Amino acid sequence: MSHALSFKNTAHLLDAKLQGKSFLSLSEFQSEELFYLLDVAVELKKLQKQGKPHPYLSGKVLGMIFEKSSTRTRVSFEVGMLQLGGHAIFLSSKDIQLGRGESISDTAKVLSRYVDGLMIRTFAHDSVKELAENATVPVINGLTDLHHPTQVMADLLTILEHKGKLTGLKMCYIGDGNNNMAHSLMEGAVKVGMHISVASPKGYEPNGEITAAVKEEAGKTGCVVEVTDDPWKAVEQADVVVTDVWTSMGQEEETLKRLEAFQGYQVNEKLCSKAKSDYIFLHCLPAHRGEEVTADIIDGPHSVVFDEAENRLHAQKAILKVLMG
Ligand code: CP
Ligand code: NVA
Repeated sequence: MSHALSFKNTAHLLDAKLQGKSFLSLSEFQSEELFYLLDVAVELKKLQKQGKPHPYLSGKVLGMIFEKSSTRTRVSFEVGMLQLGGHAIFLSSKDIQLGRGESISDTAKVLSRYVDGLMIRTFAHDSVKELAENATVPVINGLTDLHHPTQVMADLLTILEHKGKLTGLKMCYIGDGNNNMAHSLMEGAVKVGMHISVASPKGYEPNGEITAAVKEEAGKTGCVVEVTDDPWKAVEQADVVVTDVWTSMGQEEETLKRLEAFQGYQVNEKLCSKAKSDYIFLHCLPAHRGEEVTADIIDGPHSVVFDEAENRLHAQKAILKVLMG
């Protein structure tokens, strides 16, 4: 076990508690539950690497609704369900009646009669909430404008693998603070006792409500949350350096304005020279080399972005197994 908690005696209790629950944002989970899901991910990854079958979801079906593009989320959920002995159905909003105006609540009620779980990637976070409120099966958030919790579970797994621990590390996030990755990283970091510093230009700070809640949570786990406009301060002695695109899906018409606003917030050699000498670099991908990060960083020796992408598969299999098992 790579962290302090052992689940030998409590796994069955946590399984029972989490079974049937939706996965909408990390703030809805207790620290222990997130550590448990990471633990299950480590075990499932081991089984997969050893080539041992692990059909925990034999015969179960996941419906996957996409209102935005995806490479990693779509493929990792689909492959994950297959490896767990189940099946996934890709439902593009362009093709299903949701895209022609059928309500989210009717969609939730109908799909719940066919499938054992739903995954959705959409714009408004409220849409995911509405889907979950009306579904009788667990709903997994595959990205909204506000949160990207399954990505952050993969990020935490990657950090754990490379650093051997989570608690006590310092993460910095440089770039668009008012973004799904920034929010989920903040929520995830404080749950596992990781200090987090977010540096973004004025006007692109993280959501105020999320920041307030994360700061309150940080009080419980004893970690520091810093929101600043100074990337040099944020990166100081960081163990983990993270960034994300400056223009997220749905914001394309703001691209030029954002390119200008984020000057000075690029993750490059100069900035990273202030991090710890053994820092790791994370990016959820897709990336824009030359914008939020230089090629020498994302393709350099500190980058773990492809381990991170792979870990989408393992972290999500844990979520699927526990919620839908
Ligand atoms: N990181 C991530 O969610 O990638 P996709 O948009 O390709 O799913
Ligand atoms: N913030 C990015 C993440 C993509 C996985 C976006 O929403 O486009």
